[in-house]
Amino acid sequence: MLDRKVVELLNQQVNKEFYSAYLYLDFSNYCYDEGLDGFGNWYRVQAQEERDHAMLILQYLQNNGEKVVLEAIDKPAVEITSAKAVLSEGLKHEQYVTGLIHTIYDAAYSVKDFRTMQFLDWFVKEQCEEENNADNLVKKFELFGDDPKSLYMLDNELGARVYSAPSLVL
Ligand code: FEO
Repeated sequence: MLDRKVVELLNQQVNKEFYSAYLYLDFSNYCYDEGLDGFGNWYRVQAQEERDHAMLILQYLQNNGEKVVLEAIDKPAVEITSAKAVLSEGLKHEQYVTGLIHTIYDAAYSVKDFRTMQFLDWFVKEQCEEENNADNLVKKFELFGDDPKSLYMLDNELGARVYSAPSLVL
């Protein structure tokens, strides 16, 4: 049986990951509306990955005999005013999520819940990758976003992203 606090935090994280999916879908919609279809594709794939994160945590709870409580998913709280804002808000959001994962890890560590720590190791690594990806997007946009031809090429590059299932199998 898992520690109650750890279960509560994991359950909340299910909701936070679904919220992330919702947020990135909102970003995707904005980009498609602006004619940046490649950016739209990139965030749509990202939304799929976030849904996977939620499902992995949900599955972990169930594998440990825990009941999962699904709460309402908030409306995306970020007001998008430009493509650049999408990218910087994306980076901020990933940094926030990293903090959430670390908080759960800390709770598991404090009760010697090695099983949950091992499960979360994948998420710790994943957050490093997610922050790097988001940071790269911000940097690329800063370099190329003001030049239409370069922006077109960047948009094409992001349009090539394809969804793949997570490497973590439970
Ligand atoms: Fe599920 Fe982007 O962190």
